[in-house]
Amino acid sequence: MNRILPLSILALAILALATLMLVVVPGMQINAQPATPGLQPYTAIQLRGRQTYVSMGCVYCHSQQPRSTDQGPDGERGWGRPAIASDYAYDSPHLLGTMRTGPDLSNIGARLPNQAWHLAHLYQPRSVSAWSIMPAYSFLFEVKERAAPGDVVVRIPNGRGPKHGVLVAKPEAIDLVAYLQSLDRTMVAPAHAERDDGYAKSER
Ligand code: HEC
Repeated sequence: MNRILPLSILALAILALATLMLVVVPGMQINAQPATPGLQPYTAIQLRGRQTYVSMGCVYCHSQQPRSTDQGPDGERGWGRPAIASDYAYDSPHLLGTMRTGPDLSNIGARLPNQAWHLAHLYQPRSVSAWSIMPAYSFLFEVKERAAPGDVVVRIPNGRGPKHGVLVAKPEAIDLVAYLQSLDRTMVAPAHAERDDGYAKSER
């Protein structure tokens, strides 16, 4: 029993070393990196949309971290070049995600820049993607008798819209789409990062 003290000290020392090597040192290395050249900070509207993205739980089905070719065929899927740490310089908290029930959204703004498409998709995913299992976020829209000046009217294809009145996007939906449109990390990664991620230039 009298070995409890040295054992506890040893256990704490191992824990401290692991924290230092796995959390503190990588954190210092990554924090020192500036944003990827060409990456724009979020505007106020995009940041509000980002809050909606968090509160709606989009991150539970969508990642934002394309992998390098030796880890998966994300490039072939059209999700973009492998992510590097400096791509997340303006992201706090980051929204890397761990689940991919839906596609990776790191570069959705470059892949699908159309506001009308995103609004229709959010209202009813099956209006644009026939077999989608994504939930409908129809509560981000309202049905009005007629549109007021400044209203963003949404047309839903394939007869999936409301039968009467006009469908108007609420500010949350417009902000959320502004955030999705801002997701574009297709700029060329700095040379040192390309070497590190094992992604050969010829594979791009
Ligand atoms: C239950 C899982 C799930 C949740 C939650 C979810 N999605 Fe999806 N999402 C999917 C699936 C599956 C697809 C692929 C089918 C489709 O296009 O609808 C998809 C597709 C998409 C696409 C089109 C991507 C592409 O490359 O074509 C966008 C944009 C998108 N989702 C945004 C969102 C946003 C924003 C939220 C939160 C408001 C959200 N999703 C929540 C499952 C989900």
